[in-house]
Amino acid sequence: MKKSFLFAAAALLCFVTAGLMTDAQLAAAASGDVKLNDDDCQKCHITFVQQVDEAGAKHKTEVTCLTCHDGTHPPGVEKGTLIPNCSTCHEGEPHFSLENCLGCHTNPHQPLNITFQGEVKAACNTCHSNVVDEVNAAPSAHAEVDCSYCHDKHGYKPDCLDCHEPHMKQQTFDDCVKCHQVHQPLTLAYGTDIPNSECGACHDDIKTTLESGASKHAGFDCVFCHASKHGVVPQCQECHGEPHNQQMLSKFEGCNQCHQSAHSLLK
Ligand code: HEC
Ligand code: HEC
Ligand code: HEC
Ligand code: HEC
Ligand code: HEC
Ligand code: HEC
Ligand code: HEC
Ligand code: HEC
Ligand code: HEC
Ligand code: HEC
Ligand code: HEC
Ligand code: HEC
Repeated sequence: MKKSFLFAAAALLCFVTAGLMTDAQLAAAASGDVKLNDDDCQKCHITFVQQVDEAGAKHKTEVTCLTCHDGTHPPGVEKGTLIPNCSTCHEGEPHFSLENCLGCHTNPHQPLNITFQGEVKAACNTCHSNVVDEVNAAPSAHAEVDCSYCHDKHGYKPDCLDCHEPHMKQQTFDDCVKCHQVHQPLTLAYGTDIPNSECGACHDDIKTTLESGASKHAGFDCVFCHASKHGVVPQCQECHGEPHNQQMLSKFEGCNQCHQSAHSLLK
């Protein structure tokens, strides 16, 4: 109520001070006798004109005020008659069947200023079905929250450290996503670029043992042997084949009976 009063007052003030239209002309415009043109809008709705000017995107370049606000201008018409439906111009794609367009495109005059809140997964699915499938494929705490829990603006990607403590000091976002896939955080797959210090955050004893050894194993990265996926334990034979004759080996339970351990190898 107060807002619309202020708005009307501001419009009137603007109108009077600008002196660009006479009372008679306004009345005529309002009654629909005189057709307003796009240049007239700024005389009373400078805020909206500025908004479109700043970030109107294709609502600036592909349409004008009057393409959308087509009809008789108030007063004298019911409020809302001059407001278009999105579906007048946007039809025929799954995305255009969503409800509450203005819930995300909060300002039609700046249609790419998009904010998310509440349940939006179905909407994201109209364009990022690959990510939605990825999330749904592997149950995790991240799959139990909505996309908007992390993405509250379109294109915004949060830092893991906004919500989690790192495993060790100096770990950054870039480190986290070398091991964790954010949409499947329990699928712990990684490449060959993980330094031993990252594994050492939780397996410090093994790191120390390995690196203080004197064998050729001592110079290897953890991920050279424990490749691709967390928790994978290789067999010695995967790399060494059968280095000793079977007759000798058959007398022993395993390689480590003589070689002790891959991490503290006895030559
Ligand atoms: C002389 C001042 C003036 C001019 C020029 C003017 N308007 Fe308005 N407009 C107003 C006022 C005052 C209201 C508020 C009316 C109300 O709330 O009853 C309004 C309301 C509106 C509304 C809201 C209508 C609704 O149904 O809620 C729209 C949309 C609008 N104007 C668009 C335009 C466009 C587009 C132009 C340019 C083509 C324009 N106006 C030119 C003064 C003006
Ligand atoms: C792509 C369509 C589109 C274009 C282009 C557009 N508008 Fe709008 N406008 C809307 C819609 C939709 C609303 C209703 C917004 C809402 O309900 O929150 C609106 C609302 C308004 C209102 C009423 C605001 C209120 O709070 O009552 C005014 C005034 C207005 N527009 C002026 C303009 C002016 C001036 C221009 C050109 C610079 C313009 N619009 C361009 C779609 C458009
Ligand atoms: C009078 C026709 C018209 C109306 C009404 C309209 N639009 Fe548009 N809109 C267009 C046109 C034309 C384009 C440019 C072509 C396209 O992307 O389809 C566009 C583009 C867009 C874009 C992409 C902008 C860009 O620069 O990439 C968004 C987002 C959008 N509209 C949302 C909306 C929403 C939300 C509504 C309702 C509040 C709405 N439009 C109402 C005509 C309209
Ligand atoms: C849950 C949020 C959300 C809702 C609800 C939503 N949109 Fe969108 N819309 C988006 C996002 C995000 C984009 C992508 C913008 C980009 O490409 O940067 C988009 C893009 C668009 C585009 C431009 C791309 C294209 O496919 O042409 C149009 C037009 C559009 N939306 C119209 C609508 C209309 C009409 C509605 C209501 C029927 C609607 N949107 C509802 C989030 C939403
Ligand atoms: C209408 C189609 C559309 C919808 C709906 C949509 N997006 Fe997008 N999104 C895009 C496009 C196109 C891009 C790439 C261009 C860009 O960066 O704007 C993108 C980019 C992104 C990015 C940044 C990607 C990068 O690598 O930087 C994120 C994050 C994102 N979207 C999340 C979402 C979320 C979350 C939703 C649902 C709330 C959503 N999007 C809904 C079309 C859409
Ligand atoms: C727990 C927080 C979180 C949740 C929940 C989440 N995301 Fe993301 N999302 C991120 C982060 C962080 C990134 C950046 C990842 C990176 O750069 O490796 C990202 C990246 C993206 C990207 C761009 C990169 C890509 O993988 O294509 C899109 C699109 C995206 N998210 C969409 C979604 C959608 C859709 C949902 C809901 C189904 C969702 N996100 C749920 C945090 C989240
Ligand atoms: C907006 C907050 C938020 C962001 C950003 C976020 N997470 Fe989470 N994450 C959570 C919540 C909440 C949980 C569930 C409770 C917990 O374990 O702390 C969770 C759980 C996890 C889990 C355990 C999953 C499970 O199902 O037990 C891992 C692993 C994880 N996050 C890693 C990450 C990584 C890596 C990133 C960045 C790529 C990230 N998170 C970004 C909020 C977030
Ligand atoms: C070297 C690989 C690696 C890196 C890098 C890594 N993580 Fe992890 N993270 C793991 C492993 C492995 C687990 C599972 C431990 C378990 O099974 O208890 C885990 C578990 C988690 C969990 C769930 C258990 C818990 O501790 O609460 C969260 C949350 C998490 N990581 C967040 C992060 C964040 C944030 C970063 C970046 C700062 C990060 N991780 C970097 C390997 C890594
Ligand atoms: C966040 C802590 C954490 C990080 C970081 C971490 N691990 Fe682990 N790791 C664990 C925990 C906890 C277990 C035991 C529970 C399990 O099996 O998941 C484990 C188990 C293992 C196992 C044995 C699985 C078995 O079957 O006995 C291997 C091998 C392993 N980790 C290698 C690595 C390597 C290599 C890295 C670095 C790329 C690494 N871990 C990083 C916490 C971590
Ligand atoms: C030369 C290959 C190789 C390297 C390098 C290596 N491992 Fe292992 N790891 C193995 C093998 C083989 C086993 C199975 C147990 C054994 O035979 O000693 C194993 C077992 C493990 C286990 C589970 C059993 C246990 O001993 O607790 C963990 C955890 C582990 N490694 C972590 C690491 C970490 C962390 C690093 C880096 C600091 C690392 N490994 C480096 C080959 C290797
Ligand atoms: C991922 C492959 C891999 C695995 C698994 C592996 N090794 Fe090795 N190991 C190597 C490589 C590579 C060398 C160095 C060969 C060279 O330089 O000639 C090596 C060297 C050795 C040597 C010679 C050490 C020296 O300093 O001369 C012995 C003994 C050995 N490995 C035993 C084992 C045993 C026992 C296991 C299982 C507990 C094992 N390895 C698991 C790759 C592996
Ligand atoms: C009876 C004790 C014993 C057992 C069991 C044993 N090794 Fe050995 N291994 C040795 C000794 C001693 C040497 C060093 C003498 C040599 O070069 O033949 C050796 C050498 C090696 C070498 C280095 C060969 C080179 O050319 O430098 C590798 C690799 C190796 N063993 C792997 C294995 C693997 C894999 C197993 C299990 C399948 C295994 N060993 C079981 C005692 C053993």
